[in-house]
Amino acid sequence: MRERNLLFSPSILGASFSAPLSALAEIEAAGADFVHLDVMDGSFVPEITFGAKFIRDIRPHSELVFDVHLMVDHPERMMQSFIDAGAGIITIHSESTEHAWRAMMMARDAGVESGIAINPGTPVSFIEPLLDIADYVLVMTVNPGWGGQSFIPECMKKVEELSLRRDSDGYGYLIEVDGGVSMANIRELFQKGVDVAVTGSSFFRESDKGAFLERMRREAEGLS
Ligand code: DX5
Ligand code: ZN
Repeated sequence: MRERNLLFSPSILGASFSAPLSALAEIEAAGADFVHLDVMDGSFVPEITFGAKFIRDIRPHSELVFDVHLMVDHPERMMQSFIDAGAGIITIHSESTEHAWRAMMMARDAGVESGIAINPGTPVSFIEPLLDIADYVLVMTVNPGWGGQSFIPECMKKVEELSLRRDSDGYGYLIEVDGGVSMANIRELFQKGVDVAVTGSSFFRESDKGAFLERMRREAEGLS
């Protein structure tokens, strides 16, 4: 088993949209690794958040990698805009298009890392052909579309499966989990193979966010 570090990708969906630059600054000051940006289109999921222009405009205000999670139908149609906006990672949903391969290769060809997400009801087998070209596999641990929901424990099995497959078949993807991640489940998630933890509400409800990430890391590694 290789050495693994746990990376944190706090989502600004957990913050007030009245002050996005302060949310960005808080994420950076807390020592996070990525900034998670949840794009919703009102079709793939009911809510609408923001698009490529917003990401392009806030891009110069942070040094962190922008981890863009596209909860949109037909992401291949807007891939180029998010590449141009300065995304470091673009994750699309396997359920959102017949052209997942093309969309993922657009990102990779542009030097942007590429992720594939699966909803709670989607099995790992559905993305089998994409595992080879995925830099990240994002396991949704809530139904996509809203922050602040409860973690769905059944999704843990998919983390385990992806971790075993990575070891047995030599895949290079990192495993990311998104939704309801907190102190209550971080240890099990990390032990089962998670590399990147998205934290929305659990992060933004804390006053000392740096101390929170440190506690999460220690809890994950079994040091607390
Ligand atoms: C949900 C989003 C998540 C959300 C997570 O559709 O993809 O990234 O911000 O928020 P919490 O951590 O509150 O579940
Ligand atoms: Zn997300």
